[in-house]
Amino acid sequence: MLISIIAAVDEHGGIGWQGSLPWRLSADLKRFKSLTMGHHILMGRKTYESIGRVLPGRTTVIITRSPAYRPAECSPPHCYVVGSIEAALELARANGETEAFIIGGGEIFAKVLPLADRLYLTSVHVTRPADVFFPEWDEENWREVERVMQTADEQNEYPFTFRLLERVR
Ligand SMILES: NC(=O)c1ccc[n+]([C@@H]2O[C@H](COP(=O)([O-])OP(=O)(O)OC[C@H]3O[C@@H](n4cnc5c(N)ncnc54)[C@H](OP(=O)(O)O)[C@@H]3O)[C@@H](O)[C@H]2O)c1
Repeated sequence: MLISIIAAVDEHGGIGWQGSLPWRLSADLKRFKSLTMGHHILMGRKTYESIGRVLPGRTTVIITRSPAYRPAECSPPHCYVVGSIEAALELARANGETEAFIIGGGEIFAKVLPLADRLYLTSVHVTRPADVFFPEWDEENWREVERVMQTADEQNEYPFTFRLLERVR
């Protein structure tokens, strides 16, 4: 099973601000949807709450240290709550997943990065106020296999570049 991180990151590493995304990028949301459709999406409890619902067509796995945490709309087989990142990955494997997507947030990205095989990064060409950041990562350990640039427009507040990177070591 591939372990893939998917994140939108600004020029200073910012990914979140006051519990939500620091930008409105419709093309990025569309890409997120098409890449993750049909797969397990693994996320920290705070990211789940920022999304606020179970995303259709995917298996949501919420990671929390609170055993009692059980949002009303979260029930198997579309949504699970687990107590660790390892348990989240194990669940996806046991369900026959081929590519698990780690969708955030900062705390979970930092812990999963050493295990990740792929990075689907949206580099947002701006610096926005942020209180959550993507972890430091060494570009030398990764090979870029795809790069698509996108200009800003009515639906996309800032220009950005989609990048797909695969781990080389
Ligand atoms: N730009 C992007 O691509 C992107 C993507 C996703 C999210 N975001 C943004 O990032 C922010 C949220 O990120 P965040 O770092 O604050 O929170 P987060 O990573 O989404 O969630 C943190 C929570 O996950 C649980 N957790 C973390 N490590 C754990 C472990 N080892 N075992 C069990 N549970 C664990 C804990 O939940 P409990 O407290 O319940 O125990 C912890 O409080 C929001 O602003 C969101 O909009 C941005």
